[in-house]
Amino acid sequence: RPLVSVINLNDFEAAASEILTRTAWAYYSSAAEDGTSYDNNLQAFKRYGFKPRVMRPVGTVDIGSSMLGIPTAMPVFVCPAALAGLGHPEGELNITRAAGKAGIIQGATNATFPIEDIAAARLENQPLFYQLYVNRDRKESERIIRLVDELGFKGIMLTVDAPILGKREKDMRMHLPKVVSLRFLPVNPTGVSASLDSMFDANLQWSDIAWIKSITKLPVIIKGVQTVEDVELAVENGASGVLLSNHGGRQLSYAPAAIDVLYELRQRRPDLFDRTEIYIDGGIRRGSDVVKALALGARGVGLGRPFLYSNAYGERGVAKAIGILEEEIVTTMCLVGARKVSDLVPEMVCRYPTRSE
Ligand code: FNR
Repeated sequence: RPLVSVINLNDFEAAASEILTRTAWAYYSSAAEDGTSYDNNLQAFKRYGFKPRVMRPVGTVDIGSSMLGIPTAMPVFVCPAALAGLGHPEGELNITRAAGKAGIIQGATNATFPIEDIAAARLENQPLFYQLYVNRDRKESERIIRLVDELGFKGIMLTVDAPILGKREKDMRMHLPKVVSLRFLPVNPTGVSASLDSMFDANLQWSDIAWIKSITKLPVIIKGVQTVEDVELAVENGASGVLLSNHGGRQLSYAPAAIDVLYELRQRRPDLFDRTEIYIDGGIRRGSDVVKALALGARGVGLGRPFLYSNAYGERGVAKAIGILEEEIVTTMCLVGARKVSDLVPEMVCRYPTRSE
């Protein structure tokens, strides 16, 4: 499938299912148990619609924004995802390069390439966040936090929805081919996910944010918050940002979709949007999905799989995926009557009642 024939992010998924190795496809597309959380992430966006405004001058639309005070060309970021190297030999480096050229932030993580290589692939002044899993060996986590601080990363994304890994059956059924070089992982014969699992600290708790803040001055974004109550706790415990996420449906089965948590937060605690930056990820495949989230108050919107899938074509694929998203965001903003991101307000989005309501 030639790249010119790809016109939306779903096309990238279809193409990736043909191009990628079976192991890469299984790992990327995998979700917990029966895929309920994953499906819900995609379906949830269909429960929200627009209340567009007309007769507003939208001849020029500016989608520039910022995250934690860092300017970004659009309010979209690359979610951290392990093992981009399964899909392309240049792995995460393609994603870093494409994100840098497009002017968006990537949440990088210790992956197929060491974090030093990812940092070296940056453009000058290209901002990166580092996604941290707290290791059972706290000294090792301290070392990594200091390292990313020294390397000039701009923030820590602390992932909190993975005390252990969810049950990912596609991944369980695969056997790792020996050609895959997982330089940083003690590879476990029961699958890629199981190899990652062996490093996590299941005893992480809210007071550990203070521990991270005692090691670094970098802002901490809590990734994987799934309830309004936990947004409150994240703010109380000093989070600079909260990423509403269910890990792309890969952890808890029957987890809430981030867009629904965002909506509930807007209803119940609109004040918290002034106290911390709220981001969401999970199931975002269209510019209209992004715009709905922004209107409800998200400061930035993350995508995971679409960038892994587009990376099957290398850097030019990732660049194209970002470009498609940008065009769709501009189109949607024009059509809802918003010339800049701050013109997007909650009144532009409505929620359709579900059958049970
Ligand atoms: C992830 N995600 C993830 N999150 C994280 O905090 N650390 C990680 O190492 C990974 N690894 C990872 C691998 C793969 C293959 C996927 C698909 C996802 C979750 C990721 O950051 C994000 O939350 C979701 O991918 C968002 O959902 P979509 O956009 O994939 O639907």
